[in-house]
Amino acid sequence: MHELVIARSPASHPERSRRTRDDEAISVPFRLHTMTRTYSLPHIYDIAFDFRDVKGEVDFLCHIAKKQLGRPVKSAIELACGPAYHAREFARRGIVSDGLDLSPEMIAYTRELANKERLAMNAIEADMRWYRSEKKYDLAYILIASFAHLLTNQDILDNFNCVADLLNDGGVYVIVTAHPRDFWGVGERYAKTHWTMERDGVVVITDWGGDNDRFDPLTEIDDVTVSFAVTENSETTVHKCPERLRRLSFQTFQALVQLSGRFETANLLGDLDESVPLSSENESGRLVAVMGKRNL
Ligand SMILES: C[S@@+](CC[C@H](N)C(=O)[O-])C[C@H]1O[C@@H](n2cnc3c(N)ncnc32)[C@H](O)[C@@H]1O
Repeated sequence: MHELVIARSPASHPERSRRTRDDEAISVPFRLHTMTRTYSLPHIYDIAFDFRDVKGEVDFLCHIAKKQLGRPVKSAIELACGPAYHAREFARRGIVSDGLDLSPEMIAYTRELANKERLAMNAIEADMRWYRSEKKYDLAYILIASFAHLLTNQDILDNFNCVADLLNDGGVYVIVTAHPRDFWGVGERYAKTHWTMERDGVVVITDWGGDNDRFDPLTEIDDVTVSFAVTENSETTVHKCPERLRRLSFQTFQALVQLSGRFETANLLGDLDESVPLSSENESGRLVAVMGKRNL
């Protein structure tokens, strides 16, 4: 057993760092599990990341897609869906909705959740760089830190080709990712890296990044350690998971969109809110790119 000093703040979550209260430190004994894959613990991820206004975010995605399509969205696919909070909400609204993820554990878990609700939704185990299907969608979307899992420029170009091939003519790709300010450590952070969530007596404290993180300025990849401290029945287990994320600059992002030739950028926003343009101001907390598929 180890001794762990953890900070508790049940109201805190990662996408609202400026609005949380100070943490209160406590000390508990814990078991340590190292080298777990971050996404091999879907039930823990599901608690840790269940802090979002999923209905509001799906309202935004439907609205922005309708504007681009000129009609309501009829079909959508979530890339790197994890437990598919949003894809399940699309399905509840009667929209054809699928989710795609590389992790077999996540996909099995998502299928279980969708089946429990009897949702007509496919959870597809596949890579968002290379998946191809006869089925086409009006909208593809990718949320939270998932786009940063595309580590190289080629990964991003492959993703653009993959998504364009999955979309109907005139289809829309919405990318929601971290504001470059957060990646580059400039100014006030928007995304929190330490937060606590609780569900049914299970408390999950997440730390996105630790002391031994390393950034390679040539590859632009951050090697970080994600840790989940899970307390259930008074026993705490800490899972340490190595993770790799790309620090993509906005200029490189734009260059890759242009190089790919598969999309036109229709709108750049600083939040899931049309009234917040992308800028370097603090109000602009994320990078939201709304892209229309180009006809070749
Ligand atoms: C931060 S989670 C996001 C989950 C979910 N979209 C959400 O909003 O909570 C990132 C997900 O990306 C998936 N992933 C990473 N690389 C991938 C790839 N190349 N293709 C498909 N999924 C990938 C992981 O398995 C993980 O479930």
